[in-house]
Amino acid sequence: MNQKWHDLMITEENFSEILTDPEKFAFFMENESNNGKRIQVLEKLGYLDKNFDKRPLLKLLADSNDQVRFLAVKNLAKFSDFSLLDTFYYISTHDPTSMVRREAVSGLGRLRHKSAIPYLIKLTDDKDPKVVMQAIRALLVFKNNPTVINCLEKTMDHPNELVRDYITAEIARPTKDTLSKHSYVNPILKNVIVNGDVLELLPYVPEESIHLTFTSPPYYNARDYSIYSSYSEYLVFLRKVFTEVYRITKEGRFFVLNTSPIIIPRASRNHSSKRYPIPFDIHPLLIEMGWEFIDDIVWEKPEFTVKNRIAGFLQHRKPLAYKPNAVTEMIMVYRKKTTRLLDWNIHQYDPKIVNDSKVKDGFETTNVWKIDPKYDKLHSAVFPIELCNKIISYYSMVGDLVFDPFGGSGTIAKSAHGLRRNFFLTEIDTNYFANMKESILIDNKIQNVTFLSTDDFQRRINK
Ligand SMILES: C[S@@+](CC[C@H](N)C(=O)[O-])C[C@H]1O[C@@H](n2cnc3c(N)ncnc32)[C@H](O)[C@@H]1O
Repeated sequence: MNQKWHDLMITEENFSEILTDPEKFAFFMENESNNGKRIQVLEKLGYLDKNFDKRPLLKLLADSNDQVRFLAVKNLAKFSDFSLLDTFYYISTHDPTSMVRREAVSGLGRLRHKSAIPYLIKLTDDKDPKVVMQAIRALLVFKNNPTVINCLEKTMDHPNELVRDYITAEIARPTKDTLSKHSYVNPILKNVIVNGDVLELLPYVPEESIHLTFTSPPYYNARDYSIYSSYSEYLVFLRKVFTEVYRITKEGRFFVLNTSPIIIPRASRNHSSKRYPIPFDIHPLLIEMGWEFIDDIVWEKPEFTVKNRIAGFLQHRKPLAYKPNAVTEMIMVYRKKTTRLLDWNIHQYDPKIVNDSKVKDGFETTNVWKIDPKYDKLHSAVFPIELCNKIISYYSMVGDLVFDPFGGSGTIAKSAHGLRRNFFLTEIDTNYFANMKESILIDNKIQNVTFLSTDDFQRRINK
């Protein structure tokens, strides 16, 4: 055995020499046949001076041992040497082992140089989720760069759930910058449906997260799911919910409320039925909260679809006992108070988004909309999707977050998805929640929706 090689047999005495003398290191790496020993040395390399000869490490990138190649990349990354950019990219895309490719992506990230951005963006399309996550991690260093923001937003819809969870965890807590970004959608709420009491859930929702709320609240005690001890208790409940909706709505954005007066039938022939003017009673509460009144739209249904109240009058024709068939519901439109004009809201978006969001021909030109009601065998009061489509396309932009606190059968989610918006829904009833889940996943085949219990949602926010 040649003397030089003998000196380099790894022993306690010469170990530090191999690590500190580049020539000995190169010789050892080339001649040692025991991979365990080569790995041991590579693991111990520690800090590398910028004058350290990189050539032996570069040679190891073609080594047949995965661990050796991995450690070679890891050590090369310590130099943060811009000239290694192409090498790292080549290894990220060509090494046969995922672990080595991931380390090479990390090397690209450690360059912390904006020239690495296009390479990292390409790597977010890699087949291996771990490589994608490493590329995202590296890109987060440049998260104020518009191209990077665009790419990171796309990865939030990545087909792999680990990648989605990763990006969610990484950017869930918005920084001041992202918070103030009007078009920003918090990934913690994006396409999430929670089974729980909206009043328990809303305090967990960060302020200014929602672009548009469209909802139809429970109809006091007119339906079996309503459980309020009095009408005033019902109004107090709605006031609490809509005060929270105000807090979580972005500046100058819209809240659209569908209600109508309801009738509680008479208890016996000796009593009158009672009619509650819900939209008129809620309106002053909304104004008090700060909502600005914008529009009153009337939803008109065909007469044959509504309860027949006129039948008695048709017979007796007695004044005072006139009761017309109620073919309308109110769609009240409010805007969160702001001194800014609507143009300000619109200018917060990329012109392409504004262009993509333009309302197609066939929109309503008056405030009376004739739409057939929708009957659902599982839920007694569902929105016709046509109504949701109109509201969402008139009052939000593509990519926005649309909220429905009283999710019911999930019509808002289906409409928002079809119009390329995101959604966030809450629904208290476990059966309605289960039916909604089934119809969204199976009938509508909407992917990337997260269904959560109240506890899971609260945990997700507190993470
Ligand atoms: C009028 S329905 C909404 C129907 C819905 N727009 C649709 O298209 O299916 C009202 C819904 O609010 C739900 N709800 C009532 N109180 C609630 C609460 N405190 N939190 C969350 N959801 C509630 C009811 O279970 C019911 O499904």
